Amino acid sequence: MSNKQIDWSNLGFGYIQTDFRYVSNYKDGAWDEGVLTGDATVTLSECAGVLQYAQTIFEGLKAYRTEDGHIVTFRPDLNAQRMIDSAKRLEMPPFSEEQFLDAVDKVVSANADFVPPYGSGATLYLRPYMFGTNPVIGVKPANEYQFRIFGTPVGPYFKGGAKPITIRVCDFDRAAPHGTGHIKAGLNYAMSLHAIVDAHNQGYDENMYLDSATRTKVEETGGANFIFITKDGKLVTPKSDTILPSITRRSLCYVAKEYLGMEVEEREVCLEEVKDFAECGLCGTAAVISPVGKIVDHGTEICFPSGMDEMGPVTKKLYDTLTGIQMGRIEAPEGWIRVIK
Ligand code: PLP
Ligand code: COI
Repeated sequence: MSNKQIDWSNLGFGYIQTDFRYVSNYKDGAWDEGVLTGDATVTLSECAGVLQYAQTIFEGLKAYRTEDGHIVTFRPDLNAQRMIDSAKRLEMPPFSEEQFLDAVDKVVSANADFVPPYGSGATLYLRPYMFGTNPVIGVKPANEYQFRIFGTPVGPYFKGGAKPITIRVCDFDRAAPHGTGHIKAGLNYAMSLHAIVDAHNQGYDENMYLDSATRTKVEETGGANFIFITKDGKLVTPKSDTILPSITRRSLCYVAKEYLGMEVEEREVCLEEVKDFAECGLCGTAAVISPVGKIVDHGTEICFPSGMDEMGPVTKKLYDTLTGIQMGRIEAPEGWIRVIK
């Protein structure tokens, strides 16, 4: 597809094939130097480790066109680090931060025509991923891997953009104690697919997962962390070893404290106390901050005072500040923005 055919302002969160992607292969104990290719397909052994035992991890980050016409990425070093953590947990060979950043720069530069215009509401979503490629039949790690990054222009993750969504407390678990909830492994998402289809069939936009050990504490959704705003304007966000350490959430905690002078509490959040919060949002690269208007807990509705029409006022301030930093309208903390072009 040519970028001329894209209606930037009406994009959803989907895949559009762009011109170039990056590929590096791991063999005999080392990653090769990697290349850009126009080939958007992958050919694999029928017995590849990824196909048999789901040995695959991924990342998500975005390239933004700023107000002054540059193309930038937001804290890509943290994606590189998290991917190293994911690789170690699944016995995969880490891809170095330096090579990761270079690969991101190359994919973004080569697909610059697909970075949506400033102000369109769209961005170029980048998907780094790595998977076991050689035949594996006994349960063990592969010894050959492929690392790839492609880009796809995207709009809002939830239909309706900034309109508050309705979620339900989910009876399925996402992550076990001492399991893989804290890394970005494909397996975490595979096991959430039934839960999300079931949620959608019942009219909900997303699932709120609870901690699987006690089912009393708020964890996260299938693709985002939670933030809550108290009635006296504090930001509260769940602390747990079994949720993904969201880069957006970590950035928002800093922005809340240092830019907006808010108090921030990162702590266990009981489902019981959720009804007392003034605002709720889902935060992540894809979700940005998506406001939650209502949570349904087995028939009991928790309706936030911010309502179903628009983002709550504090969430909006956080959203405006974070996206302002990403799009170059507000000065970023040192090291947060990587200028590519
Ligand atoms: N939680 C899950 C399960 C996710 O898949 C994501 C998306 O990456 C997030 C949280 C948000 O993380 P980040 O802000 O780093 O994109
Ligand atoms: C992201 O926000 O980058 C994610 O990986 C979430 C995914 C559900 C799209």
